[in-house]
Amino acid sequence: MCMGSVPVLWRVVYACAAMAAVAAVTPATVDTTVQKDGPVTVTPAGTIRGSWMSTRRGRRFQAYRGVRYAHPPTGELRFQPPKPILQYDGEVDASQEGPACPLPAPPSYYVDEDCLRLNVYTPTNKRSAKLPVIVFIHPGGFYSMTGRSDLAGPHYLLEKDLVLVTLNYRLSALGFISTGDEVAPGNNGMKDQVMALRWVQRNIAAFGGDPGRVTVAGVSAGAISATLHMISPMTKGLFHRAISISGSATGKEPTPPHQRHLAEKQARLLGCPTNSSRAIIDCLKTKPWKELGDSYPKFFEIGYDPVGLWGPVVEPAAGQERYLDMDASLAVCSGRMHAVPQIISVTTDEFSWFARNILKNETLLKRMNAEWKQLAPISFMLPRENSSHAVEELTSHYLHDRPLANDEASAKGMGNLYVDSIMGFPIRRMLNLMAQYSPEPVYFYEFAYIGNHSHWEDPDTKKPVGAMHHDDMLYLFTLPYRFPTIELGTKDDEMVSRMTAIWYNFAKYGEPTPRQSELGDLSWPAVTSRERRYLHIDSEMELRTLQEYRYAIWERLYPDQSCPAH
Ligand SMILES: *[C@@H]1O[C@H](CO)[C@@H](O)[C@H](O)[C@H]1NC(C)=O
Ligand SMILES: *[C@@H]1O[C@H](CO)[C@@H](O)[C@H](O)[C@H]1NC(C)=O
Ligand SMILES: *[C@@H]1O[C@H](CO)[C@@H](O)[C@H](O)[C@H]1NC(C)=O
Ligand SMILES: *[C@@H]1O[C@H](CO)[C@@H](O)[C@H](O)[C@H]1NC(C)=O
Repeated sequence: MCMGSVPVLWRVVYACAAMAAVAAVTPATVDTTVQKDGPVTVTPAGTIRGSWMSTRRGRRFQAYRGVRYAHPPTGELRFQPPKPILQYDGEVDASQEGPACPLPAPPSYYVDEDCLRLNVYTPTNKRSAKLPVIVFIHPGGFYSMTGRSDLAGPHYLLEKDLVLVTLNYRLSALGFISTGDEVAPGNNGMKDQVMALRWVQRNIAAFGGDPGRVTVAGVSAGAISATLHMISPMTKGLFHRAISISGSATGKEPTPPHQRHLAEKQARLLGCPTNSSRAIIDCLKTKPWKELGDSYPKFFEIGYDPVGLWGPVVEPAAGQERYLDMDASLAVCSGRMHAVPQIISVTTDEFSWFARNILKNETLLKRMNAEWKQLAPISFMLPRENSSHAVEELTSHYLHDRPLANDEASAKGMGNLYVDSIMGFPIRRMLNLMAQYSPEPVYFYEFAYIGNHSHWEDPDTKKPVGAMHHDDMLYLFTLPYRFPTIELGTKDDEMVSRMTAIWYNFAKYGEPTPRQSELGDLSWPAVTSRERRYLHIDSEMELRTLQEYRYAIWERLYPDQSCPAH
């Protein structure tokens, strides 16, 4: 299932990459000896013992891993909002990595339903340090990946004087089931993130962090999360800047009120009744977490499509504390958000490689050509209702009505369709909304750099061919589950210096290029309705002007239903 078949999509890639590589890294990252000489931090919640790690340059820092920020969401707490832990019973042993939340993984990988954990990395736990704090929300489509250090390693960022927090939140049905009523209003995985942000507010000063200078940073699903935290009624005051890399909270359609179809599908997959919300939830509560965690590949309708499955919803009012109470676009354009300075970004090639994957497979290529009208809305995540007109226009625009073939023209055309449909347009919509309505600066970058590695490397040449989805993450985090650590002094290492400088500056000052930063005299302006410049990041960094025509066809096909034209 993992190699090369069907459009290999993000979730599958994440899961498969994790599966393939995790076996190899597990022994190294799960250290079973408690470090008796580990650093100790006394927090308002109790005493936490960690371990030491060091950066490539040999800078020692403290790591506190697998720390519970909420009660285990198990038993009666499954499908419930998280319950905070305000006080630990005894000294917390945080010297070892905690589990990932349930997802498909090999038996040797540490996965458990008791997964509401976070990691804190800090150069010093002196209260007086007051370092900027970055809270990283991991990618993975809300159904895969984790904040463990094998998938979000701290070694590059901890060269800087900052505190890094990475966290797990519940995934798939366990985190995002929503029935549209009081039985399962939804967003528990988002409420997990909120709980972690509250934990940070209470406890981070003890680790040398400044609770008044918190940056929420996310990639993909994490970017959607970071943006929604600016909108949620639950998160005001919990953070002060946001970074949204390759993910958008706004898209072709308004935020849905529920995902009942997925709840029913999950129920059917595990042999549960579907005739009432209560019946679905009561039955799913009795199932082993592994069955829930393992079931997402069965949600695909063709191959591994559609890419988007579980996600945040506008919750019905049923007496619960609501994470989201209105459509994301509407919240932004009606000023119902607590705006903070924000960085928004896209990579040049995002999911373009899905196209190459299909075109190189004769069976898939044939099927795609034969059933294009039915498959296109699924693969490109177009609103399903009345899609035929949109498919016709997009086919003409991107493919010049030529049948798909295993050639460069098709790879480019179909690749661009994937890029624009799944990432480019939704991100531009969000950028334009924020640029127009947010009272805080919004910076935009496009990541175009192709280095030694990529999240998609050509299966024939084994070489990167583009700046793919997640590729900017390679220069911010070590990802030992799959990639070697970048060597000092290489070109890739220059990119590490730049990306970590951008994050550090932004976390510290609220602007990515303050005067006198490591980035020289680069001055990267915010995007507004009139000032349309952004940073193009490649071997060189330069300011460019946004192409305004690129998404015209998308604006026409999918006008914003919530906000006036923007
Ligand atoms: C092509 O896709 C089919 C259908 O998913 C799959 O069974 C097959 O293994 C793929 N072929 C190659 C060479 O990857
Ligand atoms: C749901 O179906 C079960 C058995 O199929 C039945 O016993 C139950 O009464 C039904 N409940 C509702 C609300 O229709
Ligand atoms: C789909 O098309 C039908 C018939 O033309 C129309 O009544 C309906 O409103 C359309 N739905 C959407 C969402 O555009
Ligand atoms: C790629 O990695 C090799 C081995 O670490 C290194 O020599 C080379 O400079 C790297 N290339 C870039 C672009 O960083």
